[in-house]
Amino acid sequence: MILQRWVFLLMMLLLVAAVTGATANPDVKPGCQERCGDVIVPFPFGIGEQRCAMNENFFLDCTSTDDGHHELWFGENMPARNISLLNGTVTVGIFASFDCYDKSGRRSRIFNQFISLGSGPFTISDSRNVFTAVGCDTTAMVTDEEVTFGSACLSLCTRNVTMSKNNSCSGSGCCQTSIPKGLKSMNITIQSISNHVDVSEFNPCGFAFVEDIDSLDLSDWPLSRTPTDLETSNVVIEWVAQTETCENAQGNKSSYACGINTNCY
Ligand SMILES: *[C@@H]1O[C@H](CO)[C@@H](O)[C@H](O)[C@H]1NC(C)=O
Ligand SMILES: *[C@@H]1O[C@H](CO)[C@@H](O)[C@H](O)[C@H]1NC(C)=O
Ligand SMILES: *[C@@H]1O[C@H](CO)[C@@H](O)[C@H](O)[C@H]1NC(C)=O
Ligand SMILES: *[C@@H]1O[C@H](CO)[C@@H](O)[C@H](O)[C@H]1NC(C)=O
Ligand SMILES: *[C@@H]1O[C@H](CO)[C@@H](O)[C@H](O)[C@H]1NC(C)=O
Ligand SMILES: *[C@@H]1O[C@H](CO)[C@@H](O)[C@H](O)[C@H]1NC(C)=O
Repeated sequence: MILQRWVFLLMMLLLVAAVTGATANPDVKPGCQERCGDVIVPFPFGIGEQRCAMNENFFLDCTSTDDGHHELWFGENMPARNISLLNGTVTVGIFASFDCYDKSGRRSRIFNQFISLGSGPFTISDSRNVFTAVGCDTTAMVTDEEVTFGSACLSLCTRNVTMSKNNSCSGSGCCQTSIPKGLKSMNITIQSISNHVDVSEFNPCGFAFVEDIDSLDLSDWPLSRTPTDLETSNVVIEWVAQTETCENAQGNKSSYACGINTNCY
């Protein structure tokens, strides 16, 4: 009887190994889709079927358009561009806030960005992101939804400034400030002091955004820039899969995320 059990167990293990072998990526659950377009979706994240993700917080939507383009969505309005297991991060694209004025000082366009990460184990990384405003008559503010935190910066200039890759944003045409730890929502609002009247010749619009320090390149944001549909910045979101002890996690065989050959810390 005991021997039979062992044989059965061994067969099960072989079966599991065989099924696991079917997916090329060991970070993806057996039988689950490995990627959405260019983006690899490792467990605890999952797409396609609920069982592919650790729980509903990590279950993402992968949509496809008629021309075969795939987009992975983090929440409703944030396309996910990279998921890093090692860093515990998701990099998403978020539209920048902007306001634009015509030569007579009338506001012609405005967009204030608001994002919320919901109740899941996600926060906006304070170590990887920086809040930046670009413009010569621009005040920008970032708050959380409950307005328990707020940070603002002001940029004024009277002459055209070149935005280059190595512009550290300490000169004119640009201002930067950090964001606090643990943010779960961001409301980025932008305003001007005198409607760009003296600067609209070279700076019709102001922009404000939060961006990954490593991917921020100020040469993408010349003062002459006007809004297109491409004003997204890369924002790094941090996630934690589980916050419990290994004993508790391993005790629950149905939810434990790690394989037989892994150690839990
Ligand atoms: C995600 O980032 C990693 C490490 O920086 C890189 O190797 C990989 O190509 C990126 N994936 C995508 C889809 O950009
Ligand atoms: C992971 O973190 C390192 C160090 O901060 C960074 O260089 C790398 O680009 C990150 N990878 C991703 C995919 O975010
Ligand atoms: C964002 O902030 C602006 C200005 O304080 C406010 O009018 C707006 O209602 C806020 N939006 C959200 C979604 O909280
Ligand atoms: C900054 O970049 C410009 C070209 O984009 C270059 O001419 C200049 O020397 C650089 N300045 C520094 C301090 O690296
Ligand atoms: C302002 O400077 C930028 C870069 O140096 C240049 O491309 C642009 O044409 C200038 N704008 C005006 C109105 O001179
Ligand atoms: C084990 O995990 C499953 C799935 O997450 C959960 O539904 C169940 O309540 C957990 N059981 C215990 C004893 O924690």
